Amino acid sequence: MNRLICIIGNKGGTGKTSMTHMLCHGLGLLGKRSIAVLTDIYREPLFRDDRGYTPLDGRTPEKLEKIIAKLESMPEWYGVIDGTANSPEMDRHLYEISGLVLLPFRDSHEDIRTVRHDLDTFPEAFGVPSQWPTNPWQQMAAEHTLDELMQDYRPRLLDPVYTVSASKLLLHSQIPAELPTVLNNVCRGLARQVLARLEPPEQE
Ligand SMILES: Nc1ncnc2c1ncn2[C@@H]1O[C@H](COP(=O)(O)OP(=O)(O)O)[C@@H](O)[C@H]1O
Ligand SMILES: [Mg+2]
Repeated sequence: MNRLICIIGNKGGTGKTSMTHMLCHGLGLLGKRSIAVLTDIYREPLFRDDRGYTPLDGRTPEKLEKIIAKLESMPEWYGVIDGTANSPEMDRHLYEISGLVLLPFRDSHEDIRTVRHDLDTFPEAFGVPSQWPTNPWQQMAAEHTLDELMQDYRPRLLDPVYTVSASKLLLHSQIPAELPTVLNNVCRGLARQVLARLEPPEQE
């Protein structure tokens, strides 16, 4: 389904959950409706409250299947699935049913080693530099690491999602009515990149 985006990858802590919520928040700011689907059994589900998107609990295969079936019947909505680390079979399944697959990775050799492997396993997926430094010197060093270790994958990388400490607010059970502009801007930027890479919406 081309309105289904999944954020996966074999390593924990790369930013899958944060990126899921940032993307959905960004889509909301662009006037698009979306659901953020939790699959990680170690996380507590979140609720809609003041969010511009709807978090849903897809932590069992049955729940996940129901959510995906429902999304099929809601052509105006986007679905973003927050994957779970160390779940290669689940990742394979999500890769097969999604219109766009994102693999976040941080500026670390360990993350880069894993994402290179994941990019090889999932040849249509995109890597997304995540928790990217905002300090110019650190940014230069991070770019240098990409040149060194990710050169062959450059065409398959989205623009970075920068470190924004306020991104944690989206993972609180209740979010403030107004979120910092810097967070909104990063989320909007991510949502725009994703929309540009999705296939044109189905004619329904
Ligand atoms: N863009 C970001 N800016 C600041 N902190 C971030 C960002 N993305 C993730 N983090 C932080 O990094 C940690 C791991 O992120 P998380 O989204 O839980 O990763 P994963 O779901 O892949 O395990 C969390 O503490 C989260 O707040
Ligand atoms: Mg997570």
